[in-house]
Amino acid sequence: MVASDHDTLSGIMQRRRSVRRYLREIISKELVDELLKAAQLAPSAGNLQARDFIVVRDPNKKHELALAAYGQFFVAMAPVVLVGCANIVRSRIAYGQRAELYAVQDATIAASYIQLAAEALGVATCWIGAFDEKRVSSSLEIPVDIRPVLMLPIGYAGEVPEPRPRMALSRFTHQEFWSSEGA
Ligand SMILES: Cc1cc2nc3c(=O)[nH]c(=O)nc-3n(C[C@H](O)[C@H](O)[C@H](O)COP(=O)(O)O)c2cc1C
Repeated sequence: MVASDHDTLSGIMQRRRSVRRYLREIISKELVDELLKAAQLAPSAGNLQARDFIVVRDPNKKHELALAAYGQFFVAMAPVVLVGCANIVRSRIAYGQRAELYAVQDATIAASYIQLAAEALGVATCWIGAFDEKRVSSSLEIPVDIRPVLMLPIGYAGEVPEPRPRMALSRFTHQEFWSSEGA
């Protein structure tokens, strides 16, 4: 990767970390809107934009989310939690069997955009995938066929984690066909 400048995409990607400790400082509505605008720019299957985000600020709701996430209480310590949902209903307008897969991809790509935008704007996130979907749906009144697939606690960083190791390119890259070498 090329040299990392503070504001280049490369620099932003290299700086991003999963942060699990947040300051109490308020996250403004304007900042959340900037993050949602980044989500809006993400590609989506057939441009159906089959993903929705629920903005959660209520402490009781955040506590319920942390419990649904098997006791990951740092989730409740973030000023805002964004819950990314696959909108399978919207995806079904055009897609049959692949509707759910596309909606999940739409939601996850949008969340990736949010993570990078957050880094660029000086706020921290952590992708949360380990949670009981039924509990989250019941807590946030999410209808059937809308699937919560991830949560992103958002806050100013209260820690600076070390970078996590990554596999060598050769370990996850296959040339021309699947080869198990190095896997
Ligand atoms: C699909 C997915 C699910 C994840 N679930 C959790 C989670 O439930 N709790 C958590 O603390 N981190 C979770 N993470 C964050 C990863 O642990 C983290 O991205 C990984 O260790 C690499 O660290 P980095 O994000 O700082 O580069 C998840 C990440 C992804 C992509």
